[in-house]
Amino acid sequence: MCTPSERPPSIEAYPDGPFIIRGTVEVVDESGNRIVTRRATSALCRCGASAIKPWCDGTHKIVGFRG
Ligand code: FES
Repeated sequence: MCTPSERPPSIEAYPDGPFIIRGTVEVVDESGNRIVTRRATSALCRCGASAIKPWCDGTHKIVGFRG
């Protein structure tokens, strides 16, 4: 069995919420800034309403995002 650090990174759409990133990936924002995720789990906004894009801040619950 692989440990979390040995697994390849994955991205999964959370029902009615963000994309969940598991593992280390490089995210490039709209300004070209490169951000390396080093946490075991990160969340990317999928609803477009987050105040801290590209990350999810939980606003999807307030705006009633479905997807
Ligand atoms: S998906 Fe969570 S704030 Fe957009």
